[in-house]
Amino acid sequence: MAGITVTQAAFSLSDIVKIFPGVRALDRASLEVRPGEVHGLIGENGAGKSTVIKVLAGVCQPDSGTIIVGGQRIASATPAGVHSAGVRFIHQELHLVPHFTVTESVFMGQELHGSLGLARRKMRRLAEAFLRDNLGLDISGNRLIRDLGTAERKLVQVARALIDGAAKAVIFDEPTAPLANEEIEMVMQAIARLKAQGIAILYVSHYLSEITDICDRVTVYRQGRTVGVFDEISDASAGELIYAMIGREISDMFPNKGARATGEGLVVDGLSDGAHFDSVSLTVGKGRILGIAGLIGSGREELIDTIYGLRRKTAGSLRFDGETLQVATAAQAVAQGIVLVPRDRRNDGLVLPMTVAENATLATLEANSRAGLIDARAVGDATTALIDSLDIRPPNVDAVTRLLSGGNQQKVVLARWLAADARVFLFDEPTVGVDVGAKAEIYQLIEDLATKGASVILSSSDPVELLGVCDQIVVMMRGRVAGEVAASDVSVDNLVAAITGAAMVEGFANAR
Ligand SMILES: Nc1ncnc2c1ncn2[C@@H]1O[C@H](COP(=O)(O)OP(=O)(O)OP(=O)(O)O)[C@@H](O)[C@H]1O
Ligand SMILES: [Mg+2]
Repeated sequence: MAGITVTQAAFSLSDIVKIFPGVRALDRASLEVRPGEVHGLIGENGAGKSTVIKVLAGVCQPDSGTIIVGGQRIASATPAGVHSAGVRFIHQELHLVPHFTVTESVFMGQELHGSLGLARRKMRRLAEAFLRDNLGLDISGNRLIRDLGTAERKLVQVARALIDGAAKAVIFDEPTAPLANEEIEMVMQAIARLKAQGIAILYVSHYLSEITDICDRVTVYRQGRTVGVFDEISDASAGELIYAMIGREISDMFPNKGARATGEGLVVDGLSDGAHFDSVSLTVGKGRILGIAGLIGSGREELIDTIYGLRRKTAGSLRFDGETLQVATAAQAVAQGIVLVPRDRRNDGLVLPMTVAENATLATLEANSRAGLIDARAVGDATTALIDSLDIRPPNVDAVTRLLSGGNQQKVVLARWLAADARVFLFDEPTVGVDVGAKAEIYQLIEDLATKGASVILSSSDPVELLGVCDQIVVMMRGRVAGEVAASDVSVDNLVAAITGAAMVEGFANAR
């Protein structure tokens, strides 16, 4: 389609090359975002999305390429220069101080002064008005960050980036990854308001449904190159986007459920932690996959941590095949055959300066050591197999983990625990931050663990994932089991209704 684009881009990057030792992170990649559009940027883990954002932010110098912001060519981007040109970044991490108030957080580093020092009342009034009018959040400026929910914190972070009123373009890097469904809606509405003001928005996410919902155009990266720019996006685009991202179709996102072993397996009986959940009882037979659904704050995170010994229980017990398990610490859990794939894998799961091989095999060192010596070859073989099945890039066991992309770091932690020889596997949000190809692979690996006879618990905020992977699903609400249902007996809509408390749906057994 021939045509002349008259809209001037809010910013554009063309033919950007960025070479790190051993990898071409960007290989003539381009990106153009216009005022008043929500522009999606998608690609597999390691495709170069975060790197192009860092180039624009001036924190990473490209080897070559052109950057234009607001019509001006920038010879070399610096953080201060890009900021004064009106480009704002909502980083994935929060960077907020827990004991600061909302007002202090919004004005951190950009305080207003009056004749008598800090203009506290004015700042509070402005912060509250901005949050209410622009972001739809009615909140007192005196509240402390540590008392806010995750979505509220995210919105405070957005307010901080935008309060000076000079933003022309806003970059969101996976903003919804830590959020629950109804909180995601708050962020989406905030983005719609920014768009209506003519601000250019770049939106990076692995959630394709969000991309098709809110983006006007989408750029797709693969291995550091722009492989597609979609000018029209509809619900029907998801298949095309996946194909562009990974170069193949995914016919079956979810595995076929295989034959299941039998046996009592894990029994959680009347477990409480005295604060976040109370009298929770669950049974996960051998070879079974039990899903745990629930909003943030439902207690499901704390429940998983307690089963793994990271938190103290105040009542209740754990059994496996009738034998009582003593789990007061994570080391005891591992010794008794329980492993956890934690949700915050980067902080809880990795030793960043170590190599991929070392990180991936921390849990299996025993199996790989002979007479106390680590068998480097066995470690290498085991790791190579997992790197292959999870498609970790670069596919090099000696790469330093810190230098991998966010999603590839996630995969390294997964590799470690998937290789562990355990009888109970706890997965807490195993696919957050992971690309669509690796997701399908992870689902298959979870299914394989069940087929081998393990008891598996999958805690997830994604109802589609729970229905696709689990045999049985329990819904937690305010620290209690609100109901339980066979995955085959419930639709996505009904599951969402039960999770949000909109309805306790037919097919659910009531709490015990
Ligand atoms: N400082 C660095 N040193 C060496 N390699 C790096 C560095 N930063 C990134 N890379 C490599 O560059 C490539 C692109 O990484 P990038 O973080 O941009 O991916 P991404 O598209 O953001 O992926 P994800 O979805 O996993 O976050 C990856 O292969 C990564 O390992
Ligand atoms: Mg990234």
